[in-house]
Amino acid sequence: LAFDDALFKIIPENMRNRGRIVLDALLSPIKDILSRQKFLDDPLSDLQIELLCQVLSSMDTDKDPKAARVGEREARIASPYISKLTAGFNHGVGRSGQLTGAQPKAVGATIMQQVTNHVALDAIRALGLPNVKHGLVTPLSTGMTIGLVFAALRRELGINQVLYPRIDHRSPHRGIALAGLTEIAVPTVLEEDAVRADLGELEHLMENRDNFAVLSTTTFFPPRESDPVKAIAKLCQEQSVPLVINNAYGVQSEEIMKKISSAIDAGRVDAIIQSGDKNFLAPVGSSVVVTPEKVTTDWIAESYAGRATAAPLVQTLAALLALGHKHYSRLQNLQKENRVYLETTLNSLASEIGQRLLSVDNPIACAITMDGLDVREIGGKLYNERVTGPRAIELGELGSCIDNYPHSYLVMNAAIGAKQHDISNATTKLNKVIHAYSGSA
Ligand SMILES: Cc1ncc(COP(=O)(O)O)c(C=O)c1O
Repeated sequence: LAFDDALFKIIPENMRNRGRIVLDALLSPIKDILSRQKFLDDPLSDLQIELLCQVLSSMDTDKDPKAARVGEREARIASPYISKLTAGFNHGVGRSGQLTGAQPKAVGATIMQQVTNHVALDAIRALGLPNVKHGLVTPLSTGMTIGLVFAALRRELGINQVLYPRIDHRSPHRGIALAGLTEIAVPTVLEEDAVRADLGELEHLMENRDNFAVLSTTTFFPPRESDPVKAIAKLCQEQSVPLVINNAYGVQSEEIMKKISSAIDAGRVDAIIQSGDKNFLAPVGSSVVVTPEKVTTDWIAESYAGRATAAPLVQTLAALLALGHKHYSRLQNLQKENRVYLETTLNSLASEIGQRLLSVDNPIACAITMDGLDVREIGGKLYNERVTGPRAIELGELGSCIDNYPHSYLVMNAAIGAKQHDISNATTKLNKVIHAYSGSA
């Protein structure tokens, strides 16, 4: 990234110095990222991120004008646009059977991957888990990453069952099944409006059982509340049982991150999985796995079958660099404000229409009862009104993480990255749909 002095000799010295200042301002954050590999406070511009990717991907052998390429896989690309889709990292990352292995044909991608892993780990540490020491960005979304982590625990520790406090969501079930493990559902309990993991049942199911792990969840839709991860981590430590935490979109919540951090201090936590897209505003396709012990990260990297696409990794790196810690903190504050705003708005709508908010501890989402209404139809109408993301659950239907939940309800999220106008538009449209519905009923 240094400019040859010869170039500067053709201009007067005072201009030369001025030019260097401007160039340094552009390049020094890029040098900083490469040398320290940290989640920087300040964001990089798109130009800086693009330059970083250009420089690194230009080191891969498919860019070597004199290379004689006789392998069966030489990152031959059908058109330049296709290369843009991976930011030029056409060779992918890793080696056969080692996701983090250095790839001789892809020097730049190897550096990019390492920088991505370090920046992502640093971000998770800075955002509330200082006690995790190792990290890996997988080119897989959350459910598949759960599968990868359990495949590692199966291979290395002989785990063949997973005790899983009930979450009504398919991806984690599929992940467990993909790893060839048997899922044992741990029931939940209804305590007023809230659905919670039944800790007593978990303890009971752990007795006289061998070769199992526990999968615990921090973020889900109300009425389900976060699992008590600290208590579960203590149980796991007492009985030497591996614990995996699905922290799908919990990084945005300081409260959830604190709970996980104290679980790590108080008990046994083997790996924590977070979605790249839900937490860091990257496109769908990556997860960040962090672990207190290095060996766990190595096992996970070694369980990936083959080389991998670089695209989800570079996208996650770009998102982390484009955000920076300061802006992420601003977004977290907005998220908290939006969550309060969502609750206030839904509360007044609820009292207007004779419903109520479910009283559930959930830092991201709120649920409003829809008793006596056709909540599915209301959900469909909201979709037609161009509202995306509400979750409509009918009385007794799967989704509440318990059988026979006593309400129909609609969930809305105030997740990181949402704008206040998303929430005001969505709640205004909900108001409109419900009034039209009551008018026609
Ligand atoms: C708790 C939980 N786990 C897993 C997922 C699935 O994530 P993915 O689609 O990234 O596999 C979600 C949401 O979609 C979720 O809420």
